[in-house]
Amino acid sequence: MKTIDIAATAQQLENQTAHEVVRWVLETFHPKVALASSFGAEDVVLIDMMVKVNPKARVFTLDTGRLPYETYEVMDAIREKYKISIEVMFPDTQAVETMVRERGLNLFYHSIENRKMCCGVRKVEPLKRALKGLDAWITGLRRDQGVTRTQVQKVERDLDHGNIIKVNPLADWTWDQVWAYIRANHIPYNKLHDQHYPSIGCAPCTRAVKHGEDPRAGRWWWEAPEQKECGLHVHQPPPKP
Ligand code: ADX
Ligand code: SF4
Repeated sequence: MKTIDIAATAQQLENQTAHEVVRWVLETFHPKVALASSFGAEDVVLIDMMVKVNPKARVFTLDTGRLPYETYEVMDAIREKYKISIEVMFPDTQAVETMVRERGLNLFYHSIENRKMCCGVRKVEPLKRALKGLDAWITGLRRDQGVTRTQVQKVERDLDHGNIIKVNPLADWTWDQVWAYIRANHIPYNKLHDQHYPSIGCAPCTRAVKHGEDPRAGRWWWEAPEQKECGLHVHQPPPKP
């Protein structure tokens, strides 16, 4: 793995544009770097930027098995437009079977423990597999997405995943900037965004938000705002089934 002075690099990249950060991360780490994409608005922006720097840039997605139909639609639209192969990660079959046998298919509505277990099985463990062998990963995290995201840096060390580098090129972007880029570059996007879904995860755990509500209010809407992380981005060892 390349040695990076993380504090100095973070300081240097903080004043650079998203394009410059994307170029830096691909030139430094490709092919040992990939974008984690849920195909939300931020992620399709990043795919456009990445492919323009390197047509072979890598993209993976965690298919939880509970995604909305519209997410599969945009995945295929992006795949066709940019001629990229998307690395799709699925959860471990046996872990899903044990979990739903013991706790039910819609276990997440019953307790926070159940919800974290489901995210653990369907997202966190597959993410660990996806990151194996990578020196860096890229995400679409932005600081104004909610109370759990205000401290996001453009480049960080990921202590939960073997100290690899985590790069968030859109950390200081606003929602309006994201949409201006999508429109200017004619990028396919998830049609649920047109139905008041700013943040899109699994179908049973995502709903539309009302005017003026927090952008992540529709994610796990029955939980408190500080609980609203599935474990991809904060350290929370998930309960095992
Ligand atoms: S989540 O942790 O609450 O689900 P959110 O939907 O805000 O995250 O997305 C933040 C970033 O996490 C995305 O820009 C993407 O980089 C990554 N991410 C979230 N869900 C997935 C997924 N299913 N597959 C791959 N990456 C994902
Ligand atoms: Fe399970 Fe909901 Fe988490 Fe998706 S978001 S993995 S369905 S708890």
